[in-house]
Amino acid sequence: MNFLLETIQVLLLSIWYNVESFIHLFIPIKKKNIAGEVVLISGSGSGIGRLMAQEFAALGTVLVLWDINQEGMKETARLAKQSGASRVHYYLCDCSDKNEVYRVADQVKREVGDVSILVNNAGIVTGKKFMDAPDSLIEKTVEVNTMAHFWTYKAFLPAMIANNHGHLVSIASSAGLIGVNGLADYCASKFAAVGFAESVGLELVATGKDGVKTTIVCPYFINTGMFDGCQTKSSPPAPASPAVLPWQYHFLSPKPFNSKHSLSMCPLHTINSPKCCGYVLQAPVTVHLPLPVYQY
Ligand SMILES: NC(=O)c1ccc[n+]([C@@H]2O[C@H](COP(=O)([O-])OP(=O)(O)OC[C@H]3O[C@@H](n4cnc5c(N)ncnc54)[C@H](O)[C@@H]3O)[C@@H](O)[C@H]2O)c1
Repeated sequence: MNFLLETIQVLLLSIWYNVESFIHLFIPIKKKNIAGEVVLISGSGSGIGRLMAQEFAALGTVLVLWDINQEGMKETARLAKQSGASRVHYYLCDCSDKNEVYRVADQVKREVGDVSILVNNAGIVTGKKFMDAPDSLIEKTVEVNTMAHFWTYKAFLPAMIANNHGHLVSIASSAGLIGVNGLADYCASKFAAVGFAESVGLELVATGKDGVKTTIVCPYFINTGMFDGCQTKSSPPAPASPAVLPWQYHFLSPKPFNSKHSLSMCPLHTINSPKCCGYVLQAPVTVHLPLPVYQY
């Protein structure tokens, strides 16, 4: 009987959350004020990371940029200052190297302070069929797209937990939700990134640290150069532009969990709200970034 009731409950909640997320396409959720937060963006030397840096800059945050591309970061820092950032710090850091992540993280803590919004954005793609991809590139893909998230969490999450305040943002991919021909290693690394972020989010809620939020962003193809030459049957890659087009605003893919425990985790709604589910945010374009500024 319990099983039957719980199944009905999950079905009803699932319908409700779909309706709710549809309504929020037209009535956006209140954004939270992030002025003064210390925001670290990995892979901010170009593409989405750069665009996010510019958007975060305009919101009065202190920016910490990480990349392996020094020139790219310099340019991002310049643009961020132009967008209104008062403080921008940039560091060369290869996120795939655990020891380097820990070393540079310590330097950031000393020189800037505790990071309160961590955006794991650095990513790479081999763009080769699985059997053609060299082992070394496959390993690198997993190290950058997945393992780096473990190390940055280890470095910055303790302070967030201690303050019960913070936000973990994972720039994953729609290829982290569905398999794609020719992207086996990339998809695997992004599926893992999604699973990791979701699970840590649940762990935080289970341990009562509901002040530390989690947002998982799953963009479709964006025209940053990463997927140059890639073709899709339906829509072309979205432009990498901060311009907001209403129809591109965001697309919420409700992902109801089926246990009461997980129901208390929802990145977009009041934590511990009984009406809840996990949402994976699919951002067809970068326009809506930074996404984690929702009030919940
Ligand atoms: N562009 C797309 O279509 C698309 C779609 C879905 C998801 N994504 C994801 O969005 C994120 C950003 O992608 P993008 O399109 O802006 O790509 P991009 O290539 O423009 O930017 C990636 C950045 O990460 C940096 N980087 C690479 N390896 C690194 C390392 N080991 N340590 C630190 N920095 C490193 C690069 O130097 C670069 O500046 C990636 O995680 C990507 O997988 C992109």
